[in-house]
Amino acid sequence: MGQSYDVILKGGTVVNQDGTGERDVAIKDGRIVAISSSIEPLSGAAAKTVDCKGLHVLPGVIDSQVHFREPGLTHKEDLATGSQAAVLGGVTLVFEMPNTNPLTTNAEALAEKVATARGRMFSDFAFYVGGTRDNIDEIPQLERLEASAGMKIFMGSSTGNLLVDDEASLDKIISRISRRAAFHSEDEARLIDREGVRRAGDPTSHPEWRDVEVAMISTRRLVRLAEKHRRRVHVLHISTGDEIEFLREHKAWASVEVTPNHLTLTAPECYERLGTFAQMNPPVRDAEHQARIWKGIRDGTVDVLGSDHAPHTREEKDHPYPGSHSGMTGVQTLVPIMLDHVNAGRLTLERFVDLTSHGPQRIFGLRDKGRTAVGNDADFTIVDMKRRETITDDKIASKCGWTPFHGQTVTGWPVMTVIRGRQVMVDGEILGEAQGDAARFWEAD
Ligand code: DOR
Repeated sequence: MGQSYDVILKGGTVVNQDGTGERDVAIKDGRIVAISSSIEPLSGAAAKTVDCKGLHVLPGVIDSQVHFREPGLTHKEDLATGSQAAVLGGVTLVFEMPNTNPLTTNAEALAEKVATARGRMFSDFAFYVGGTRDNIDEIPQLERLEASAGMKIFMGSSTGNLLVDDEASLDKIISRISRRAAFHSEDEARLIDREGVRRAGDPTSHPEWRDVEVAMISTRRLVRLAEKHRRRVHVLHISTGDEIEFLREHKAWASVEVTPNHLTLTAPECYERLGTFAQMNPPVRDAEHQARIWKGIRDGTVDVLGSDHAPHTREEKDHPYPGSHSGMTGVQTLVPIMLDHVNAGRLTLERFVDLTSHGPQRIFGLRDKGRTAVGNDADFTIVDMKRRETITDDKIASKCGWTPFHGQTVTGWPVMTVIRGRQVMVDGEILGEAQGDAARFWEAD
């Protein structure tokens, strides 16, 4: 007796561990149950067939760095709008950041986020827990809570007031972590020293203030502590070629994230064109750094891509520099921007999948996700590699309604988002209610 199927994805080009080729994929109860060159509904059994001819079927794209601002900052974004943007952009799972208000720094705040997310989030979710000087002793419990993506530590100030910059506290935090922990790596002391470098009204001074040394001092220190304690650290949004080259030699305990922003926008042009709307931390830098980051994409140094979706309202971005807020939207544009890079020959589609599915699965120890394999969750990002579209502000579902990529025409577009067997987005339309659920990790409950 064979088994019945709920859904068969038919005739798509599956990008998988056994190569890239035409495969059918059968789904039952939200899981992948068969992958083969031809799957038919079993006789007498109904199965919904989804025609994927001409499309690429990728494992669900995981964005392991987004800020969805709920609770407390919901004039910028909330868990519903942020996750709508995610699924419209082909993202099936997000890891959300703790610099909300209140901060996500204890079990109650995390449980509150999870409860709010259920029934309101369209994508699956996990939440980082912010590391502070006060919750160091609780790290072992905080890392293991339901939906915990692990700890996130800000070594330099950015949006919100999560900051741990002294050596003793950082040493203690790193000695206590047992999962991989994520770090915003910029050196606070040098940032304070160099505040005078900022020129009022001139965002081109943003990367001069937050210079290469700000990033390097911090990343060297982080790797030194990780190696001392033999703990896994994840260095978020790398902005410099210097860090890529340093981390290439120090991969034993450190994993590496880069963003589409740092791979696509270039200083000084982006600041001249977009002004403070191109301002983020760490900053977008010049073409020379960008080329060295791309080398890290090509040679495998980089482990994951995250969007660092960090929405602020137009009004907040419009304040004169340096009073303008740092951060840009990105969760909805990650897939189209990177598929355009694939079509331009800058990375392969297989490497894209490695960075957005296999990479997060491996780095964070995700269960049941990250690969198109029998037994895994049926999460798919289905893309049309030939479709040309222009990214515009009016397509952006984020509450703040703007993107730094407004007006950019790309080739390659997400046309369907499937999460645990459900078609959540088809051709730019979100279908059904919010049914996002908590991701599961080997090292958490
Ligand atoms: O530019 C940034 N904005 N970088 C961060 O690390 C935080 C983020 C935000 O939350 O706005």
